Amino acid sequence: MNKIAFLGGGNIATAIMGGLLENGYTGKDIWVADPDEIQRQKLNEMGVGVTSDNAEATAGADAILICVKPGQVKMAATSIVPLKPGQLVISVAAGINTTSLRTWLAHANLVRCMPNTPALIGEGMLALFAENDLSKAARSLATELMSSVGETRWFEQEHDLDTVTAISGSGPAYFFYLMETLIDAAMTLGLDEQSARHLVLQTALGTAQMAKISPHSPAQLRQNVTSPGGTTQAACKVLTDQGLQSIIEKAATAAQQRSVELGKS
Ligand SMILES: NC(=O)c1ccc[n+]([C@@H]2O[C@H](COP(=O)([O-])OP(=O)(O)OC[C@H]3O[C@@H](n4cnc5c(N)ncnc54)[C@H](OP(=O)(O)O)[C@@H]3O)[C@@H](O)[C@H]2O)c1
Repeated sequence: MNKIAFLGGGNIATAIMGGLLENGYTGKDIWVADPDEIQRQKLNEMGVGVTSDNAEATAGADAILICVKPGQVKMAATSIVPLKPGQLVISVAAGINTTSLRTWLAHANLVRCMPNTPALIGEGMLALFAENDLSKAARSLATELMSSVGETRWFEQEHDLDTVTAISGSGPAYFFYLMETLIDAAMTLGLDEQSARHLVLQTALGTAQMAKISPHSPAQLRQNVTSPGGTTQAACKVLTDQGLQSIIEKAATAAQQRSVELGKS
């Protein structure tokens, strides 16, 4: 089994470690470095090796996952130089590009990953990017590791990760927002909060599962449940007339542009 090291043992690292432990890795295969003693104690309870020394955690690792906040990446990366040529580094930090990572790590064997929050419950969408020179074996190791908390997809252009950030990265918030407003609407129309929440959440879950397993597009599925002159059509007419499509497009564009700006700062 490969030896895996984590720099940073917070939310996303804990989720990935949990996924690895459920998928054949043992505590002996995993080392995590985190400066926070309370955090290290929690991680120790998962059975993985813990240390406050980044270089100690990464010394014998085949893959190193950088799971610190974007503003902490430079310090974490420079603390593990020099790396061995075969070691694979995967960074999940939002907005930190591979050019910066290559410079700070003095290392080219690396992958940039953009996860989203459902990864915390093993249902993430994880976008991956690497330069063309990354080996097939390294790509498949990255896919294997990140698949432990969700579905993975590789992108060929690094700038696509700004769009990924706008769609799957920020996407959970859009769906939460829709749930929130539908719960509010249900209560305005007279339902109690518990009933409104139950109806909305199960409808969201069932709809997502149906869209995922169906051979039809969401557009087709929507048409299938919209009878002429019916209730769904009455609601969808309001959404269309009020410009839902343009609002969503503007929102995604704003997120993409913000991601580009943050990547430059
Ligand atoms: N959570 C998500 O769903 C999600 C989604 C997409 C992307 N990400 C990315 O994942 C990264 C981590 O997010 P998170 O939510 O897991 O953050 P987090 O819970 O704050 O975890 C980061 C951990 O790293 C530790 N740390 C700080 N500096 C370090 C260093 N130099 N070496 C080793 N460890 C260090 C922090 O300790 P201190 O608290 O003491 O600083 C903290 O325990 C971020 O870059 C974020 O962009 C997360």
